[in-house]
Amino acid sequence: MKEINAIEYRDGTLYLIDQRKLPITYEIFQCKTYKDVEFAIRDMVVRGAPAIGAAAAYGVVLAAKEFIDNSKGDFLKNMEEALGVLNKSRPTAVNLMWAIRRMRNLIEENKELSVNEICKKIETEADKILNEDIETNKKMGKHGNKIIPEKATILTHCNTGALATAGFGTALGVIREAFYTGKDIFVYADETRPRLQGGRLTAWELKQEGIPAKLIADNVAATLIRDSKIDVILVGADRIALNGDTANKIGTFMLSVVAKAYNVPFYVVAPTTTIDFDTETGEGIEIEERSGEEVTHIENIRIAPEGIEVYNPAFDVTPGENITGIITEKGIVRAPYKENILKLK
Ligand code: MRU
Repeated sequence: MKEINAIEYRDGTLYLIDQRKLPITYEIFQCKTYKDVEFAIRDMVVRGAPAIGAAAAYGVVLAAKEFIDNSKGDFLKNMEEALGVLNKSRPTAVNLMWAIRRMRNLIEENKELSVNEICKKIETEADKILNEDIETNKKMGKHGNKIIPEKATILTHCNTGALATAGFGTALGVIREAFYTGKDIFVYADETRPRLQGGRLTAWELKQEGIPAKLIADNVAATLIRDSKIDVILVGADRIALNGDTANKIGTFMLSVVAKAYNVPFYVVAPTTTIDFDTETGEGIEIEERSGEEVTHIENIRIAPEGIEVYNPAFDVTPGENITGIITEKGIVRAPYKENILKLK
């Protein structure tokens, strides 16, 4: 497998593959302050729920470095402010809030130590979050591979690969595992309007790996499903409620409806860090609305008339009843979701 390190931290700098630029150019975006990280998450330099969580953890590391010379009282106060800023950088992907909560708890548990010692603990914890995510993805790959037939055509949406995580990927991780264990697989990747994560990022990762694939416009998927061209659909998740309702990239819900109508298995692949144990149903999930320019412009070129109003939600919620199973690092969870999701806690 090709090494794709979307997130790397070295000596006080966070290096991110700039996902706004791929696949046209491969550029590295450097974050030196926690506000750089907040910008990188908000502007989608880094994106995908697990990747956002890991990047935010390093944002906390950079904040700690910025405040290392403060008195303990000022350090704790400034860190709390930085945690709050990072926590708000995007609203839907719960891995962000999960990583911030983990860092906040760590600071709280170690607040009697010196500022220097707290900073060291913060850095170690961020490294742990990054490495755990890679391990988790590999486990999901193994569990998920069990439901992939020896010969299979897989449809996927958005980007769920190494770029969207600390490495390997969630849904794309299952695809990688199937490919590398010798299965005869073929992938259809939705381009995923408006930000084109499928066309830009999934297609780029598939090409890097030499996985047989075709890129399709989003509106092709229903026809492929109806015509029995798809054996299984794999998508990622940004937040999963207790009843299995899953927020993922806009368009996922539509796919799930067609999959259900034509009896095609529809799996969500996500680590347990994407489960929001505090939210009962999808109704409690905040859906990010993004700038209308994502729809009216492509690469800064206007493609819609000046003044047209736009509705641009970045995510939708797929009801648990449309989901065949949720592939996590702890195994595959099936309905009844609430009962079975709670067992993962
Ligand atoms: O807006 P994005 O690009 O951050 O949205 C990403 C997605 O919706 C992914 O499918 C999801 O985060 C799963 S990533 C492993």
